[in-house]
Amino acid sequence: MYAGFFALLLFGSFFDSPKATFAASVTFKPTTPSLGVPENIQHLWANFAPYFAAAEYPAPPPGCVINQVERHGARFPTASNGAQIQSTVQKLQAVRDFKVPRLEFLRNFTYDLGHDDLVPFGAAQSFDAGQLHFVRYSELISPNKLPFVRSTSAQRVVDSATNWTAGFSFASQNRFTPVLSVVLSESANDTLDDSSCPDAGSGDEQTNVWQAIYTAPLHAFFEQAAPGANLTDTDISNLIALCPFETVAKEKPSQFCDLFNQTTFEGFEYFEDLGKFYGNGYGQELGPVQGVGYVNELIARLTNSPVQDATQTNRTLDSSPQTFPLDRTIYADFSHDNQMISIYSAMGLFRPAQPLSTTTPDPRRTWLASKLVPFSAKLVTERLECDRKQFVRILVDDSLQPLELCGGDKNGLCELDAFVQSQGFARSNGGGLFQRCFA
Ligand SMILES: *[C@@H]1O[C@H](CO)[C@@H](O)[C@H](O)[C@H]1NC(C)=O
Ligand SMILES: *[C@@H]1O[C@H](CO)[C@@H](O)[C@H](O)[C@H]1NC(C)=O
Ligand SMILES: *[C@@H]1O[C@H](CO)[C@@H](O)[C@H](O)[C@H]1NC(C)=O
Ligand SMILES: *[C@@H]1O[C@H](CO)[C@@H](O)[C@H](O)[C@H]1NC(C)=O
Ligand SMILES: *[C@@H]1O[C@H](CO)[C@@H](O)[C@H](O)[C@H]1NC(C)=O
Ligand SMILES: *[C@@H]1O[C@H](CO)[C@@H](O)[C@H](O)[C@H]1NC(C)=O
Repeated sequence: MYAGFFALLLFGSFFDSPKATFAASVTFKPTTPSLGVPENIQHLWANFAPYFAAAEYPAPPPGCVINQVERHGARFPTASNGAQIQSTVQKLQAVRDFKVPRLEFLRNFTYDLGHDDLVPFGAAQSFDAGQLHFVRYSELISPNKLPFVRSTSAQRVVDSATNWTAGFSFASQNRFTPVLSVVLSESANDTLDDSSCPDAGSGDEQTNVWQAIYTAPLHAFFEQAAPGANLTDTDISNLIALCPFETVAKEKPSQFCDLFNQTTFEGFEYFEDLGKFYGNGYGQELGPVQGVGYVNELIARLTNSPVQDATQTNRTLDSSPQTFPLDRTIYADFSHDNQMISIYSAMGLFRPAQPLSTTTPDPRRTWLASKLVPFSAKLVTERLECDRKQFVRILVDDSLQPLELCGGDKNGLCELDAFVQSQGFARSNGGGLFQRCFA
C-alpha cells in the first residue's frame, strides 16, 4: 500500500583534509521548501514523515576509506489509499451540521490530490540528497568511478533516482553526471521491491487492535463534532494520513492537521510502526526473507565477488558487469519503504527484544517508522579501510547503527569478514523461507 527508499553503498578513501580541494568546485543549494508544520508533529508522521536526519552524520574515523540504498521522496497517496481517503472525506462532508468551527472548512473542501507519483516536494528532497551525497563523498568520485544507480520500476522511484542524479550532477557543477543504469521490473525478479512473495501475510490483525485503541478518543470527538458521520477506525486513520499527504503535496499546512493533537499523532505513528513490523519486519514470518536478495547483492559488492543468491535476484542482470559492476566506489539503489523494512530485518537491524505489543507502545522503542522509512529514507553501508583492514559501518538516516550483530566497536565498525559471517540468514537464502513465499 505504501511507497519507498534508497540504499547507497559506498567504498572509498577518506584522507585527512580532502574537502579543501573540492570546496571551490562544489555547489550546494538546498531546494526543499519548508512545510510550515512544527517538526515535533512532522516527526510523528511515521512513513509519511518528510526525511529528517535521525542523528548527526559521524565522520568516519581518521584513515578510513568508504560504500550506499534510498527510499523515494514524498508522494501522493497510492491510488487505492487515495480512493479510501476520498470516501472518508465524503462521509464527513455529508454531515451538514458541524458542531465545531475547525470542521467548517470541509464545506468548501475538495479532495484534489494525485496518486502514486512523487510530489514536487519529494523530487526536491531527492535532488537535495543527491547534492548532499556528492559533497559528502566527493573523494570517491572520478570520471571512471561514477555512482552506479539502479531503481525499481515504479515511476515515483525512477523519478527519485533521476532527481538524485540531477542533484549530484548539479553539486558537481556538471563535472560528474551519473545516470540511472538499471530499472528492475516489479513484475519480475526484483531485489528492490517486495512484490515477489505472494504468500506473505499482512499486519492487519495487529494494526486493527491498536487502531481501535488509539482512535477511541477520536470517535468521541467526531461523534460530537460531526454527528451522524459514522466514521470507522480506518476512516479516522485516513483523516490523519491526509494531514501529511496534503501538506507535502501543497507545501503548506493542511487543515486536517489542525483536527489532531500530539497524542493522536503519536498513536498514528505507532499504528504505522506496527504495520511495518507485522507486515514486512520481524513480526511477519515471510517479511525478512524478502530482503535476502538485496543483502546478497550487498555482500557481493562489499567483497568484490560474484553474487551468490537463490532468491529474488535477476541472475542475468547480476552476472553481467554492464548491469552489475563490481568496480565502482558508490552504488545507489532506489526502492520502497516496505522493501527497506524487509532489508533491515534480513540484516538484523533494529531487532527489538520482544515483538511489538499491539496494545502498549514502548516509549523507548527504536522501531519508529518515521526514523526507519520516512520519505527519502537512506540506508548507507560504508566500507572503510583502516590500518589495512576492511571494516563496515551502517547508517540509517545518518544514525550510526551499533552493529552488535557482528561485534561493532564504539565507532559502529565491524570487520568486513565478521559482517559477512553475521549475514547467515541471507547467505543461506533465508533458510528455506523463500520457498514458503510460493507454497
Ligand atoms: C466557502 O466558499 C465561499 C465562496 O468561495 C466563501 O464565501 C466562504 O467563506 C467559504 N467558507 C468557508 C468556511 O471557507
Ligand atoms: C523529478 O521528479 C519529477 C516528479 O516529481 C519528474 O517529473 C521530473 O522529471 C524529475 N526530474 C528529473 C531531472 O528526473
Ligand atoms: C531479468 O532482467 C532482464 C533484463 O531486464 C529481463 O528482460 C528479464 O525479464 C528479467 N527476468 C526475470 C525473471 O526477472
Ligand atoms: C487529544 O485529542 C483527543 C481526541 O480529540 C482528546 O481525547 C485528548 O484529550 C487530546 N489530548 C490532549 C493532550 O489534548
Ligand atoms: C449512522 O448510523 C446510524 C445508526 O447505525 C444510522 O441510523 C445512520 O443512518 C448512519 N448515518 C449515515 C450517514 O450513514
Ligand atoms: C528469478 O528467480 C527465480 C527464483 O529464485 C529463479 O528460479 C529464476 O532463475 C530467476 N530468473 C532470473 C532471470 O534470474
